[in-house]
Amino acid sequence: MNTLAINGGTPVFGGKQMMDLIPPWPPRYPETEEKLLEVYRSGKWAGVGPYEQKLMTEFAEFQSAGHSVWMVNGTVTLECALLALGVGPGDEVIVPGVSWIATAEAPIYVGATPVIVDIDPATCCIDPKRIEEAITPRTRAIIPVHLFSSVADMDAITAIAQKHGIAVVEDCAHAHGAAQHGKGVGSIGEVGSFSFQLSKLMTAGEGGCCTTNSDELCDKIFRASHIGNSRLYPKEPLAEGFICHQYRFTEFQAAVIYDQMLHEKELRAKRKEGMARLNGLLKDTPAIIQQQSSYADDERAYYFPTFLLQYEKLKPGVTRADIYAALRAEGVLFHEGWGAPLYEFPAWNVPKKDYIKHDTPVCGDIMYNRVLITHNAVLLTENAIIDKVAEALDKVMRYYTA
Ligand SMILES: Cc1ncc(COP(=O)(O)O)c(C=O)c1O
Repeated sequence: MNTLAINGGTPVFGGKQMMDLIPPWPPRYPETEEKLLEVYRSGKWAGVGPYEQKLMTEFAEFQSAGHSVWMVNGTVTLECALLALGVGPGDEVIVPGVSWIATAEAPIYVGATPVIVDIDPATCCIDPKRIEEAITPRTRAIIPVHLFSSVADMDAITAIAQKHGIAVVEDCAHAHGAAQHGKGVGSIGEVGSFSFQLSKLMTAGEGGCCTTNSDELCDKIFRASHIGNSRLYPKEPLAEGFICHQYRFTEFQAAVIYDQMLHEKELRAKRKEGMARLNGLLKDTPAIIQQQSSYADDERAYYFPTFLLQYEKLKPGVTRADIYAALRAEGVLFHEGWGAPLYEFPAWNVPKKDYIKHDTPVCGDIMYNRVLITHNAVLLTENAIIDKVAEALDKVMRYYTA
C-alpha cells in the first residue's frame, strides 16, 4: 500500500492543492460584461427592467414553472412564499434538521413555529415518514430541501401534503436545473425558492426567486416582496393586514444571472460527466458511498457532490477529521459543509419555546460522522484532476478501512 502523505509518503497532487487547480468560481462571461455596461449606461438599474422581465418568464420555464418572482436573496423568498400561503402565528411548518438555517428561520419570520424532523440517511433530504408523524392540526406547510446534490422525494411529500391539505414550499437553493420525473424542481410544490448567493450554481453574488404555477400565489409573492405593488392585478387593492416588504432585485443582478441561466445546462452536463467518471473510479473504494437522489431518473444538479462515510467499516477510533487531514495532505480539500444540524448552528439563536424538534438521530449522525463534501468539486470538470481526487480518496480510504 502507498504510504499516506500525512505519514511521509508522496502526495497524490505532488505538493499542489486541488483547489488551486480547479476552474475559478463564479464563471465570468465576456457577454455579461457587455450587459452590465449596457445596464449601467441605461440608468434602468432597478424596477423590473428588461433582464428581470426576461428572467421572470425564462427562468420559470427553465424550471418548468409558470412564474418566477425575483428578490434580494433566497432567505426572504422562503419568507414571502409562506406569507403568500397565509402562514402566520399559531401555524406550524415542517422542515428538515439538515439545511441552512434560513429554511427553519422562514417560519419564525412570519410568526409561525418551525417543526424540525429527521432526514433520510441515503438522500440526506427530509424523510417523508417523519413528516407524517409530525403533522398536527396546526401544520400549514412543509419545506423540503433538495439538499446538496439530491432531489427530495417529492412523490411521497406531495401525497402526504395532499392528504392533509398542506402546502409544499420546495427549497431549491442547491438545485438549479434539477428535476424529478422530468419536472423542474420548484414547479412540483406550490412554491419553489431559489438562492443565487455566491457559492450557488447560478449566482449574482446575492439574489433569490420564487417559482410557482399559480397566478394568485405569484401576485401575492410579488406584493409581499414589492411593498404591496401587484404584478398581475394592479387594480385590486392590497388585502387588509397583508404586511409587505421591500425586497426588490436589481437589473445588474438580473443581467448576470440571465447569462448564467443560458450556460447552466452546459455546466451541468460537465458536472454530470465528471461525477460519472469519479464514481466509476471509486466503485471499488471501501467505506465511502455517494449521497443518493430519491429516484433513478432524478436530474441532479451536483451542487456540492456529497459522499457518506460508512463508519462501521473503518478501523476503530478513526474519525472524519482523520480522513480530512489525510486527504488534505494528499492535496484534496474536502469540506465538512455546515458541520452541524441546523438547530445546533451558533446562528440558530431561536429560543427553545419557539420551535419544535422531533428526534433527529440521522441528522446528528450525518453531520458529525458521515458527510464528506467536496467543496467546489462542483467545478471538477477536468479529467486529470478528477482522476487524482479518486486516487487520493482510494488511497486514504483503503488505509483507514478495517
Ligand atoms: C438550503 C438553503 N436554503 C436557503 C438558503 C438561503 O439563501 P440566501 O443565502 O440567498 O439567503 C441557503 C443559502 O445558502 C441554503 O443553502
